[in-house]
Amino acid sequence: MSIVIIRQDDKIESWKKALQSHDATLEVYSYLEPHDKEKVEMALVWKHPIGSLKKYPNLVYLASMGAGVDFIFEDPSAPLALPITRVVDRQLAIDMSEHVLALILNYLKGLDSYKVNQTKKIWKPVPYKRIADVRVGILGLGVLGTQVAQDLAKVGFQVQGWAHSHKELQNIKSYAGNNELNPFLNGSDVLVCLLPLTEATTGILNQHLFAQLPKNAYLINVARGGHLVDQDLQDFIHKQHISGASLDVYHEEPLPKDHFFWNLDEVLMTPHHASVSDTNSVVPQIVENYKRMQAGLPLFHLVSKNKGY
Ligand code: GLV
Repeated sequence: MSIVIIRQDDKIESWKKALQSHDATLEVYSYLEPHDKEKVEMALVWKHPIGSLKKYPNLVYLASMGAGVDFIFEDPSAPLALPITRVVDRQLAIDMSEHVLALILNYLKGLDSYKVNQTKKIWKPVPYKRIADVRVGILGLGVLGTQVAQDLAKVGFQVQGWAHSHKELQNIKSYAGNNELNPFLNGSDVLVCLLPLTEATTGILNQHLFAQLPKNAYLINVARGGHLVDQDLQDFIHKQHISGASLDVYHEEPLPKDHFFWNLDEVLMTPHHASVSDTNSVVPQIVENYKRMQAGLPLFHLVSKNKGY
């Protein structure tokens, strides 16, 4: 019985170390080192190479190393009949919340423009907005969206959230379903996308949605690049309906050097780093699930195949 870690960045060794220091009896391999593929029961994956899971004939369980699982559903050869779990972690949610708060404050206080002015030695106050005057709309009230919404409400923003079904959250106005999307958008000066990427939400950040936002609205996409129609955002920035955007996620990552976002002054880009699974925080739940799987017990944080998240 063993675990294989499949991801294409340089984090495999640190995950392996964290798993083994949590439980020294675990047999854990990088997919790149020699190992007996027939013995692997669990694959721990993050943006694995398409087709790589086919090499493991005896897998019984797939675990995403992050909150999202869209990359698993995008692999036509992934064994989707197996149980799939995702990370649900308080630290991940707090990190996301801090990132979104920082972006909104940066926008309200115009800090980016001061950095640009500083490089040109320009002394120029810019008008600022106040927290209490700003209505923030959170698209998606899952674990991350709920944390962000509640934290923003605590510091004084007027917060509303949109989800598949109505949510009862203190100080958060709840909207649900397609019928309530437009009224939700009409009252969102800042729109934060924290939806899971599914067939239903792919391309949801498009010209029709942007047209429903108040003039000068600001967009924050910290969910997935696939939610956004890039060209529509550029068009709405150019016609000054959207005043700017902060983007952490892109259709292709790293973003190709010739993409127009790099040169769009109104767009603040971060490299898919808003909130990253911390091994110390996340490894215990992964090991717990591995043991539950071996004991035939129900797993925590199972993904619904119908919903895709
Ligand atoms: C990050 O994008 C995650 O899904 O955890």
